[in-house]
Amino acid sequence: MKINENYRNLNENYLFATIAKKVKEYKAAHPEKEIIRLGIGDVTLPLAKSVVAALKKASGEMGEKETFRGYDDEQGYPFLKEAIRGYYGAKGVSADVSEIFIGDGAKSDLSNILDIFGTDNAVLVPNPVYPVYVDTNVMDGRKISYMNASKENGFLPLPDKNVKADIIYLCSPNNPTGAVYGREGLKLWVDYALKNKAVILFDAAYECFISDKNLPASIFEIEGARECAIEFCSLSKTAGFTGVRCGYTVVPNELISNGIKLNALWRRRQATKFNGVSYIVQRGAEAVFSKEGLAEIRENIKYYMNNAGLIGAALNKKGVYYTGGINSPYIWFECFDKMESWAFFDYLLENFALVGTPGAGFGEAGKNFFRLTAFNSLENTKLAADRLLNIK
Ligand code: MLT
Repeated sequence: MKINENYRNLNENYLFATIAKKVKEYKAAHPEKEIIRLGIGDVTLPLAKSVVAALKKASGEMGEKETFRGYDDEQGYPFLKEAIRGYYGAKGVSADVSEIFIGDGAKSDLSNILDIFGTDNAVLVPNPVYPVYVDTNVMDGRKISYMNASKENGFLPLPDKNVKADIIYLCSPNNPTGAVYGREGLKLWVDYALKNKAVILFDAAYECFISDKNLPASIFEIEGARECAIEFCSLSKTAGFTGVRCGYTVVPNELISNGIKLNALWRRRQATKFNGVSYIVQRGAEAVFSKEGLAEIRENIKYYMNNAGLIGAALNKKGVYYTGGINSPYIWFECFDKMESWAFFDYLLENFALVGTPGAGFGEAGKNFFRLTAFNSLENTKLAADRLLNIK
């Protein structure tokens, strides 16, 4: 046998695995330290009550002969697709249920979608970037080019007509920078994609954190996007599903390449390689979109955004430049004293027992930046803000 040689081009470890290893080693050496983890964007609040009730009810159904379910449509149950259609409808976006695919999260679908695209496509990603977009394309051997996100462009790069791309990744609110595209910016991207016959893979995993109604929470709010974009979303951050696993992908019927509907290709891919999300989880996900569920998750989101505000306030006091934290659970700031981000990571861990994510882990352009999440408890976030204030 021969291995996929492209794997030689990957970093040895996935970013968050490297951080977890470093923190574990530190904890082993300093068991007395109370470490505060604002690194990986993992939620801490429990599931909403209505979600738990739906999960329990569905588990009960699976234990009764009359209501037991086995294999079903791997693309998702109609009840959940309808609920998601309604959620989009409330944003003024119409999606047909045939365009909605239920999966186990945005990370998986963003990776698996690459099966339907040739390896000769030119890929364009922002820098800094969620490492999954890069690593999955490296695994397939695709050519990747980068567009610089920086202080100068507010970490929201716009299309450059001199750069030719076939597959474009956009994430808004952005991971890691927390920056959010306005309608004008997204329209420029849609126009570029239509002109270049490119596809935009739009990661909307953090859309629920947008509180400014003028900002688009879906690329499909932009005219023309149905002809050039696929949207990925997840309940991980929306409803605390990081350990439950459920997400959805919208592939519009208008998206066509060489006479072939991408929707049909994705359906074909999923039918072959995926057996669907469990019935129990899909019932829990359906409850997220109920009136009670939405009210409950909005409370949780408010809680996290209050945390984001505390971190932002500490950085304001220190006079540090940052993005995010307003319509995003991530706060992306310049490392103190212009430190390199891994050095700053070590400095924060060793001196303040505070864990974040070094910007360099998201690409070269992040090397002097650092990301903190708002997903920890209020108590820990207050402590973390105090620790930031104590940095000399
Ligand atoms: C992150 O911290 O960037 C995310 O939690 C990772 C993910 O969602 O896979």
